[in-house]
Amino acid sequence: MPLETRPIKNGFAHELLGLRLWEPLDDSTTDKLRELWARHPVLVVRRQALSERELADFSALFGPLERVVRTEWASPAVPEVGLISNLKDGQAQPIGGLGDGELQWHSDQSYMMHPATGAALYALELPPKGGTTSWLDLAAAYAGLPDRLKQLVEGRNGVFSYVKRLAGYQGVDRVISSEAKRNTPPVLHPLVHTHPVTGINVLYLDSTTTIRIAGMDDASGCALLDEIYSFATRPEFVYRHEWQVGDVVMWDNGATMHRREPFDPTARRLMKRTTIFLSRESHIVPDGCLASEEAMA
Ligand code: SIN
Repeated sequence: MPLETRPIKNGFAHELLGLRLWEPLDDSTTDKLRELWARHPVLVVRRQALSERELADFSALFGPLERVVRTEWASPAVPEVGLISNLKDGQAQPIGGLGDGELQWHSDQSYMMHPATGAALYALELPPKGGTTSWLDLAAAYAGLPDRLKQLVEGRNGVFSYVKRLAGYQGVDRVISSEAKRNTPPVLHPLVHTHPVTGINVLYLDSTTTIRIAGMDDASGCALLDEIYSFATRPEFVYRHEWQVGDVVMWDNGATMHRREPFDPTARRLMKRTTIFLSRESHIVPDGCLASEEAMA
């Protein structure tokens, strides 16, 4: 069956029909998927039945895969596949990460100088209610910003901190080791990037890691960020995905933020994910630097 696509939310997301991701894709389909992902940051493929190897092989068509950094979340069989789950093993230890709580609007790895910006999440077990994931279109949000906010944010760098991310996690993930602080110091990224393929300006934001705007005092920087978040997170910029078992959703963290709604801790949710180093030629990949003392002052 040839590849068909169905735009969702004005083309911000696309559903892909006719794909069997457990089989090798031909070159022309792969090229079409790469072009689609460059222009449409969220791609949805339903009704898949994938082994971890098949999920990893499909993801690797779009760039090198990152081995799961939090090794306690990694699949024992395929180290590039991470488990996102509230399930526990026979010793009552979590089998994966991120539990059952709410995850606020964020962009994965924004606290890294060179983030791996692609992600694919595959649903295996789902709670009867809650646990839905939403993506925010940061190109549409930028386009809709009032000119005053565009001028205020243009040319500005945000300071992104891993420690802030960890402090927001619940339960076991909340432990902030001095090693994490030492290895992942705050970094600077521009708050607006131009997309290499579409030429469109896109906001780069993460409400769970941004601690200030470089060159602005704390109060004015936080007030500006709050104003931008409250504008950018309007429902018209959001695609809310109601998961079904077998769904694969791929997203580009260079052009989106995402959030997850909490779910009943006694229900089961098991997702598998990969993380992909997308190319700078086709995607926004922030190229940050360490936040200097001046930026933090
Ligand atoms: C994530 O933020 O990467 C996980 C999203 C989810 O569990 O739906």
